[in-house]
Amino acid sequence: MTLRAIILGAAAGGGLPQWNCGCENCNLARRGEIPAQTQSSLAVSPDGQNWAILNASPDIRIQLGNTPLLFPTGLREMPVQSVLVTNGDIDHVAGLLTLREMQPFTLFATNSIHDVIAENPIFDALNASVVKRRPILLNEPFELVTNLTATLFPVPGKVPLYLEGEHVQTDLVGEQTVGVALHTQGKSAYYIPGCAALTPELRAQLDGADLLFFDGTLWQDDEMVRTGLGQKTGKRMGHMSMDGPEGSIAGFADMQIGRKVFVHMNNTNPVLRPNSAENAQACAKGWTIGRDGMEITL
Ligand code: MLT
Ligand code: MN
Ligand code: ZN
Repeated sequence: MTLRAIILGAAAGGGLPQWNCGCENCNLARRGEIPAQTQSSLAVSPDGQNWAILNASPDIRIQLGNTPLLFPTGLREMPVQSVLVTNGDIDHVAGLLTLREMQPFTLFATNSIHDVIAENPIFDALNASVVKRRPILLNEPFELVTNLTATLFPVPGKVPLYLEGEHVQTDLVGEQTVGVALHTQGKSAYYIPGCAALTPELRAQLDGADLLFFDGTLWQDDEMVRTGLGQKTGKRMGHMSMDGPEGSIAGFADMQIGRKVFVHMNNTNPVLRPNSAENAQACAKGWTIGRDGMEITL
């Protein structure tokens, strides 16, 4: 059994290009001068036949259409057995609405994330008699798809933007933002598309991993402010950045990880330009810049 992972969408919320963004990257992507990227999602399978989708992005319809391994195998038979969401953010749950049509699958999430979904009646479009909503406890292994065990663990983060109150804690550790651990044949893969900080607990957990997909939202914390696109820093959005002494590239530098792949990249991130100095710098430090359609096997 080999773990297969396909990046369905390598971009963060908004995608590349984002509909209302005239930044350098978005314009290059519109002109076809750099590859466009769809929003945050990963497909995983232990055998190439049964698949789980980790995060249901608003682009899921196009992503499924671009991925022959996920095409229907019969009139209403799908290789996708389950969908798991790692937080309640729009880029990770809005695609659930595309997955209506009375198609059976299991929806996995923590209780808190299930509550967010349940509180919004539009998601009742996923008929409860057809789509089973299964709450998953932190740190308790469960069968994600036949022959593939997963475990959810807490990652520093915040509640979804649309649920933010006046005061926002951006490094909550609990059920609202989780990472996914996948174990198969003595090997381990981790999927963490949103992470506010690399805590000592997280370092201990990830050290020795064979494969890591990690939050690559921004290159620098103040990237959106400097490019004139908004007032928010990466920290305020609950994302650690790649560059700098507190960044993920430095944070993981002394750890033993077989393969490190950035996902969930915001359209402002210069690594999305294949010829940029930042892309070269990240690659020189042992990172792979994820892109739509990239398959990685373990
Ligand atoms: C994030 O990753 O910070 C969110 O997806 C932002 C958003 O909801 O647009
Ligand atoms: Mn996001
Ligand atoms: Zn842009």
